[in-house]
Amino acid sequence: MIHIHKPLMGMWWIVAVAILAHTASAAVREYAWEVEYKFGWPDCKEGMVMAVNGQFPGPTIHALAGDTIVVHLTNKLATEGLVIHWHGIRQLGSPWADGAAGVTQCAISPGETFTYNFTVDKPGTHFYHGHYGMQRSAGLYGSLIIDVAKGKKEPLRYDGEFNLLLSDWWHEDVLSQEIGLSSRPMRWIGEAQSILVNGRGQFNCSLAAQFSNTMLPTCTFKEGDQCAPQRLHVEPNKTYRIRLASSTALASLNFAVQGHRLLVVEADGNYITPFTTDDIDIYSGETYSVLLTTDQDTSKNYYISVGVRGRKPNTPPAVTVLNYVTAPSSQLPASPPPETPRWNDFDRSKNFSKKIFAGMGSPSPPETFNERLILLNTQNLIDGFTKWAINNVSLAVPGTPYLGSVKYNLRTGFNWNSPPKDYPVDYDIMNPPRNRNTKQGNGIYVFPFNVTVDVILQNANGLNANASEIHPWHLHGHDFWVLGYGEGKFKPGIDEKTYNLKNPPLRNTVALYPYGWTALRFVTDNPGVWFFHCHIEPHLHMGMGVVFAEGLNRIGKVPDEALGCGLTKQFLMNRNNP
Ligand code: C2O
Ligand code: CU
Repeated sequence: MIHIHKPLMGMWWIVAVAILAHTASAAVREYAWEVEYKFGWPDCKEGMVMAVNGQFPGPTIHALAGDTIVVHLTNKLATEGLVIHWHGIRQLGSPWADGAAGVTQCAISPGETFTYNFTVDKPGTHFYHGHYGMQRSAGLYGSLIIDVAKGKKEPLRYDGEFNLLLSDWWHEDVLSQEIGLSSRPMRWIGEAQSILVNGRGQFNCSLAAQFSNTMLPTCTFKEGDQCAPQRLHVEPNKTYRIRLASSTALASLNFAVQGHRLLVVEADGNYITPFTTDDIDIYSGETYSVLLTTDQDTSKNYYISVGVRGRKPNTPPAVTVLNYVTAPSSQLPASPPPETPRWNDFDRSKNFSKKIFAGMGSPSPPETFNERLILLNTQNLIDGFTKWAINNVSLAVPGTPYLGSVKYNLRTGFNWNSPPKDYPVDYDIMNPPRNRNTKQGNGIYVFPFNVTVDVILQNANGLNANASEIHPWHLHGHDFWVLGYGEGKFKPGIDEKTYNLKNPPLRNTVALYPYGWTALRFVTDNPGVWFFHCHIEPHLHMGMGVVFAEGLNRIGKVPDEALGCGLTKQFLMNRNNP
C-alpha cells in the first residue's frame, strides 16, 4: 500500500510500485512531505508552528513491522536547514537515514529535497521530530506507529486504540528562545505556557483544582474551539490501548485518567511485564502503551489529565475527556481532573521507573561489559555563556557530519581523540562545580563492532546550589538495557552488584534523577554514528550530548545527498571529477 499525502511529482511513484511488486508481504510506504512555517493556534493563542504538508502536528505514519518507509522531505522554509529524526527506529543498516543534523547528514537546504529510506523491523509506538537547532520545540513532530506484521499475533488484546502525542508549548518563538539561551548572561526559556495533546492545549485557564482555585480562571470553551478538550469516545466494557509519546522540549509529564486504572504494557517500542498503576510518568523521548478498561459508571465522562512533574510547575495540566458513548458527549465531567502528583516527589518518580521490567521473551543482556563510560553531566560556563558538559566537554557538532568523516576517514572533520571516559574521582557531585569553566569539543567515542558497552550516567549539582535536574537521555540506533538506578556517586566495583541482569527493560530513553546515577548496557551491533543526548531541547542546544561510533569499517553505502556539506562535499566532488 502506498500512502501519499500530497500528489507526488516526477517519477517517484513508479519506482515505489516497482519495489512493491518484488516484495510479498512487506509494503513500501512512500510519502512526499513539505515542511514550512504557518500560523497555528495550539492553545487558542496565535503562534508560528512548523507544519508538515500544512498539518501540525505532522501526519501520523502507520506501518507494519517489516515495512519500508520512504519519505521525500522537501524543505520549504525560507532561511533554515531541516532534518527529521525517526525517534525509536534503530536504522539497522541505514545509519545515514537517522536524521540527526551534523551527525548522520547535512541539514537539507531551503528548496531542496532529501529522501529517507529505512525499514521498521519491529512493532512499537514511536514518533518523529526535527533534529536541527530547536525545530522540535517549534512543533516539528508527529507519530510513528508500527503494528505487528500481517499474520503475526499481537501479545495484547484490545478493542480499539488511541494515540496521544504529548508536547509543551511556548508563546515566545523558538528563534528568540535560541538567542536567549546563547546570550550572556543566558536568558532561560522559562516554563511552557501550555501542555499539548495531539497539538492542542489550554492556555491561561485551568480545569485542575489546584490551579483554578489559586492562580487561573476555570476554562470555558465554545464547541469546536481548537483548545477545547478533545474527546476520546469509548464504549462501555471494552479495553482500549492508549499510545503515549512525549516530544516535550522541557517538561516531564504525568498522565492519569480519572476513575480508571492503567495497565502499562509497552515502553519505547518494547513489550514490558504488564503492571497496573493510577498514573504514569513520561519523560521527553519516552513512549508507552497502556490498556484501559471502560468499567466505570457509563453515564459519566472522565478527565484525562497531563500535568508537569520534575520542575516546579507553572503550566496548567492539559485535559482531554474520556467520553463513554452512553453519556452526553458535550458534558464535561463534574469533578475536577486528577491532581498531578507533587512535582518534586522524586522517590515516587523513581519507584515508577523501577516497576518497569522486560516482557517475556525479551533478550537478556550480556553478563558483563567490554567497555565502560562514566559520563558526568555538569552545568558550566564558557566565557560567561551557560553550557552543559559531559566529562567537562560541551558538545559542539562540527560542520561536516560525523558519518561522512568516519566513512571516508577525513581526519580534519572533527577531533579524533576520544573525550574522557570518566571524571576526576574527587569531583563533588553534591555542590556547584568548584571550577565552573568548561570547553567545547567535538570528539566522539569510537567502539569496535559487537562489543558490550556500559554507560553510567552520573548526575551532579548545577551552577546554583541545591539544584540538580532530571535529564532524560536518549540513544539513537539502539535499544539499551536499563540495568539500574542509584543515589549519589556510582561506586565502581560495588554498585554493579545491584544491577538487574535478569529482566532489565530494553528502552531507548531513560531518566537520570537528581544527584543519582543510571546504568545502561548495549551491544555495538549497528555500524554507524549515533547521537546520545539529553532529550531536553535547550540542554542539548547547550551541549548536553555525546556521539558514539561503532563498526566503522562495516558502514555500508551512504548516499551522496546526505553528505553535501563541509569536507564531505569537497571529498565527493574530487572523487567524482578527479
Ligand atoms: Cu528524539 Cu536525538 O532525539
Ligand atoms: Cu538535560
